[in-house]
Amino acid sequence: MIFFFVHVLSILSVLAEAAVTWTATPLNPPAVPLAVRSPYLSAWLQQGSGQALNDVWPSFWTGMTLGWAGLIRVDGTTYTFLGAPGGLQTGVLKAAQKNFTYTSTQSTFILSAGPVDITVNFLSPIEPTDLVKQSLPFSYLAVTVQSTDGNSHHVQVYTDISAEWISGDLSLTAQWNTSIVNGIITHQVQLEDQTIFGEISDRAQYGSAFYSTSNAVTTFQSGQDIIVRNQFVSAGVLSNTQDINFRAINDDWPVFGFVRDFGNISSTPLTHGKISPSSKVGPTLAREMNNENTVVFTIGHVRDPLVEYITIDGIQNRTAYWRTRFDSVVKLIEDFLPSYSTALNAANALDGNISADALRISDDYEAIVELSVRQALGACEWTVGEALNPSDIMGFLKGSNYPKALGHNDGLDEAMPVEVKSVALEALANYCAYPLSRLSTDDFAGTLPNQTNLAIKGTIGIKAMSIIEYMLGNHSAGANYSSIATSYAPQIEAFATTTSPTNGLEHLELNYGNASSWGLSYNLLGDKLLGTNVFGENVFEMHWQMFTAAIATSNVTRDLLITRLRAYLASGVNSVPLSDWYGATDAVVQGFQARPVVGGHLALLVI
Ligand SMILES: *[C@@H]1O[C@H](CO)[C@@H](O)[C@H](O)[C@H]1NC(C)=O
Ligand SMILES: *[C@@H]1O[C@H](CO)[C@@H](O)[C@H](O)[C@H]1NC(C)=O
Ligand SMILES: *[C@@H]1O[C@H](CO)[C@@H](O)[C@H](O)[C@H]1NC(C)=O
Ligand SMILES: *[C@@H]1O[C@H](CO)[C@@H](O)[C@H](O)[C@H]1NC(C)=O
Ligand SMILES: *[C@@H]1O[C@H](CO)[C@@H](O)[C@H](O)[C@H]1NC(C)=O
Ligand SMILES: *[C@@H]1O[C@H](CO)[C@@H](O)[C@H](O)[C@H]1NC(C)=O
Ligand SMILES: *[C@@H]1O[C@H](CO)[C@@H](O)[C@H](O)[C@H]1NC(C)=O
Ligand SMILES: *[C@@H]1O[C@H](CO)[C@@H](O)[C@H](O)[C@H]1NC(C)=O
Ligand SMILES: *[C@@H]1O[C@H](CO)[C@@H](O)[C@H](O)[C@H]1NC(C)=O
Ligand SMILES: *[C@@H]1O[C@H](CO)[C@@H](O)[C@H](O)[C@H]1NC(C)=O
Repeated sequence: MIFFFVHVLSILSVLAEAAVTWTATPLNPPAVPLAVRSPYLSAWLQQGSGQALNDVWPSFWTGMTLGWAGLIRVDGTTYTFLGAPGGLQTGVLKAAQKNFTYTSTQSTFILSAGPVDITVNFLSPIEPTDLVKQSLPFSYLAVTVQSTDGNSHHVQVYTDISAEWISGDLSLTAQWNTSIVNGIITHQVQLEDQTIFGEISDRAQYGSAFYSTSNAVTTFQSGQDIIVRNQFVSAGVLSNTQDINFRAINDDWPVFGFVRDFGNISSTPLTHGKISPSSKVGPTLAREMNNENTVVFTIGHVRDPLVEYITIDGIQNRTAYWRTRFDSVVKLIEDFLPSYSTALNAANALDGNISADALRISDDYEAIVELSVRQALGACEWTVGEALNPSDIMGFLKGSNYPKALGHNDGLDEAMPVEVKSVALEALANYCAYPLSRLSTDDFAGTLPNQTNLAIKGTIGIKAMSIIEYMLGNHSAGANYSSIATSYAPQIEAFATTTSPTNGLEHLELNYGNASSWGLSYNLLGDKLLGTNVFGENVFEMHWQMFTAAIATSNVTRDLLITRLRAYLASGVNSVPLSDWYGATDAVVQGFQARPVVGGHLALLVI
């Protein structure tokens, strides 16, 4: 298991960016986050070298297709704007993507469908000050239509999801229903046979997907994909009927559709305001959302319980933290759907702050940070014990056995005693300057003795313990640990420093005495973050890439690394959610996609 990211030292020469026909702000990333809020609500557009929103289907973070379709009918002519539905009647066109923007919480596309522009806003809120809201496994899709030729046009918007949202095995039987409660229509879809805490191909095998919208001038239908979509193409309206022939996800592909009829839309084009770097699409969209030309949908994936967790008193089930505020999914949706404008305003404020903070470093850094935020939080879930006591909160990150956090009583965990501090402090204090042959978090590299990065981490840990002892009033123990850490730091530096034969520059080795090796000793970030200040400035000067860029003392080095990382993002070489492991010369990813470790990209904001 890997807890922290490692960027292979990037020596990418500046790669060409993908050639696309639309304006991209800040850039076209390998995959665009669409609905990314939990390990199982994680929908992306694999953009690669330039796939528009309606060139390919959205996909789960692993790459599995997620049926999520969008069609628009303008004066009787239908255009696709989301997904790549096949089997449609002849005469259906593709809307032309002309603009794409992402911020920390939003991905927004503008496409033209003849004389009408469609703004498609995917909002995955980030709510750092309200963990109940942060724990909601729901995202928004908002579609705004506008006439661009000064005339009025009759517009209907269609969208659906398939049952691909509920399993990693498409041969399993799905069941579903559609309900209208308090003015909200919801399609609910789940597996007929649920496996609590089960996963297939990283997909939860229990829980339900929910697709909702307001009931106003809206029709719905469930049924075979080509039947429901072609019903819209020919009539512009759905039948308000449910297909109750429950069947496999891939058996005549059941889909769950909605149509909003906008009637004749206003002939007054919306004015797109001037966009300042820190506000991006924000103010424009905020205005559009209060406009009757917008329809909002919510998509969610809900499980109960969330995780199985081992404690000293046995195994407990932990449920979603939002249950401390909402006693049912229906109540959650009744709150979430109408809160779109509020959520959008909050998201715009947060986006603006993150953007402004990142821009203090550079434009390139802003692009990296904004792509990383949803991904980092999308792998986390906030839980509460079954007594629903709000102070009993725990966050979980998807690990290899998720959602079963059952420990390793069989003793078959990965042996990382120094990395995860499962050794006694006594042993750490006595031996961490010379780590035995151990795995580090970079476990793909295997075991090595005397790893510089492990020795650094252990030493910072000892210094941190000294601070804790002082806080507890145990001055002798505090002084003892402090003197141990202080004596280790220069020894580690001496053991690990070597001079490069090629350029004569000093650097830290991966492990002591291994003159041919290089190591990115990103654990040094902890020394700055915790304020332990046990390593000298000369050690920091030897350091590199993102975590390491945060501790590099030269802005030139920092900016060089950021620019190269941005070049990797914009290269068009990859089409998976941001990977933290890629070839340094060709930008080709090596797996490791969609990991929350990209939160480390924010390191420059915390130092
Ligand atoms: C839809 O199906 C789910 C799962 O069987 C059930 O819990 C829910 O009550 C149903 N909703 C309606 C409105 O029938
Ligand atoms: C829309 O406008 C057309 C012509 O401008 C008119 O014939 C039609 O009745 C209008 N439809 C609605 C729903 O208002
Ligand atoms: C695309 O969107 C960006 C940011 O919202 C904006 O600055 C730009 O004017 C838009 N371009 C077009 C062609 O709509
Ligand atoms: C956890 O929940 C599952 C499913 O409801 C149940 O079968 C199991 O007994 C629960 N476990 C505990 C420890 O409560
Ligand atoms: C944005 O930053 C301002 C100024 O630091 C702060 O008052 C505000 O709470 C922040 N808002 C968000 C949503 O982070
Ligand atoms: C390095 O960059 C930071 C933030 O971007 C800035 O505050 C600082 O003045 C720069 N240092 C130098 C030496 O230019
Ligand atoms: C300092 O701590 C180490 C490691 O815990 C311990 O072995 C040693 O006895 C301690 N020394 C003193 C003087 O407390
Ligand atoms: C670790 O490094 C120290 C100091 O160079 C050396 O004495 C020791 O033999 C090394 N340990 C291993 C297992 O290589
Ligand atoms: C201080 O810490 C040391 C080392 O952990 C411990 O042996 C000792 O009992 C502590 N003293 C007090 C007064 O807590
Ligand atoms: C030296 O480092 C390389 C990685 O650069 C590693 O593969 C090799 O095992 C190390 N050699 C020794 C003797 O530790």
